[in-house]
Amino acid sequence: MPRIWILWTFALLGALVGVPVAWAADSAAPSFYKDVLPIFQHRCQICHRPGEIGTMPLLDYQGSRPWAKAIKAAVVARKMPPWFADPQYGHFREERRLSDAEIRTLVSWVDAGAPEGIVPDVKPAPLPWPEGWNIRADEVFQMPKPYVVPAKNATDYVYVVIPTGFTRDTWVTAAEIRPGTRAVVHHALAVVRPPGSTWLKGARPFEPYIPPADGSETGLTGDPNSPAPDTPQTNDPLNDPVSMTYELLAAYAPGAGAQRFDTDHSAKLIPAGSDIILQLHYTANGKTDVPDATRIGIEVTRDPPQKRFMSAVANSYKWEIPPGDPNYEGHGRLTFGEPVELVFIQPHMHVRGKDMTVRVTYPDGKTETLLSVPRYDFNWQLIYYLREPLKLPAGTKVEVTAHWDNSANNPFNPDPTKAVRWGNQSWDEMLSVPMGVIVDRD
Ligand code: HEC
Repeated sequence: MPRIWILWTFALLGALVGVPVAWAADSAAPSFYKDVLPIFQHRCQICHRPGEIGTMPLLDYQGSRPWAKAIKAAVVARKMPPWFADPQYGHFREERRLSDAEIRTLVSWVDAGAPEGIVPDVKPAPLPWPEGWNIRADEVFQMPKPYVVPAKNATDYVYVVIPTGFTRDTWVTAAEIRPGTRAVVHHALAVVRPPGSTWLKGARPFEPYIPPADGSETGLTGDPNSPAPDTPQTNDPLNDPVSMTYELLAAYAPGAGAQRFDTDHSAKLIPAGSDIILQLHYTANGKTDVPDATRIGIEVTRDPPQKRFMSAVANSYKWEIPPGDPNYEGHGRLTFGEPVELVFIQPHMHVRGKDMTVRVTYPDGKTETLLSVPRYDFNWQLIYYLREPLKLPAGTKVEVTAHWDNSANNPFNPDPTKAVRWGNQSWDEMLSVPMGVIVDRD
């Protein structure tokens, strides 16, 4: 009897004290619709909606509420949204870094019990996200039959040659690669192979193809742009560390979605008679064979653009990272031989990548840091679009400084006892900065 009495007293006390406290919290707590949803709309939904890479949709209260605790943890640790540029340098379009005030709003919403809010009628209109393609896909090229990713050991790169059938030069204003089965597509690249090229000459159109390891099928013999004799023979124009000899049309990787080329009246050129080569890097799930049929969509313009959009790459390959070295430094360089407008920068390293800084030196000697990524994360391949295209005069040097952590302290390091060099696989390394540039059309 006395026991029950004590419990009752406590419950009563709790209720008496609890009421005013709840009142105060309620009126101060952020409302989901007024305060939280606008942040999700502008910073999260690009990925967290059906069909995109963030698995749980953050479109409405019902979908978001169960994730409240995880959201707090992810934004406080700045794990979400993925954004690695040091805010000290450069200004970027679609910058997904949360402000301190936005983080405070999300945290106090979660701490208040993630309430829906007292005025549901201030619901903001849902953003008009497209379903499926994020561009106007005028032409879609699809692998006609799926490639079955084996349950285990899916490490070879798979290539698919897709003839465009274009009988005249075609200008492309945007491109997007959409994986068929996201869970197994680690990354995918689409490259324009001009007519007459001997790259992957053994591949039959539309047939998933794994070139022989000796490089005989991927030789660049006869290609005027093939690497100079003193360079490592990768025999692969995509991973030629000296220059990317063919135009990279589009890339897919976590964080790299649809790509637009029409900044400042520009477009990419697909010469008549070209093929599109899809390079697919699959990851086995370890349990079952999984089919994938990845697609690429392009947006075409009939009016020839005023300027041409192209890729340029600052690479370097003359290094060997010593075993165990926690902070090995590498440099990449590129000098523009003609004036360009720089549109985007995409830092690329593998699992030992630690940090990267991209700096330019103008012909007059002035230098400027365009991008600094102090904590590089291989899991995300973000493309940093400058807020405005940056005019770089002929002779401007791009200088990349990067560090790798080849020590046992790097949790992603597959083998700290190994010296590491340039290579395709994620246990090899890269130091590569593809950039989108606009040049004179002719
Ligand atoms: C560039 C794409 C992208 C953006 C932008 C993004 N996310 Fe994510 N998010 C992901 C992906 C991909 C995952 C991993 C999903 C999975 O493993 O299923 C993820 C996972 C999460 C998780 C799961 C917990 C964790 O830490 O792994 C939370 C919570 C989350 N995101 C919240 C957010 C919030 C809140 C925002 C906006 C403020 C946001 N994300 C913005 C892509 C994104």
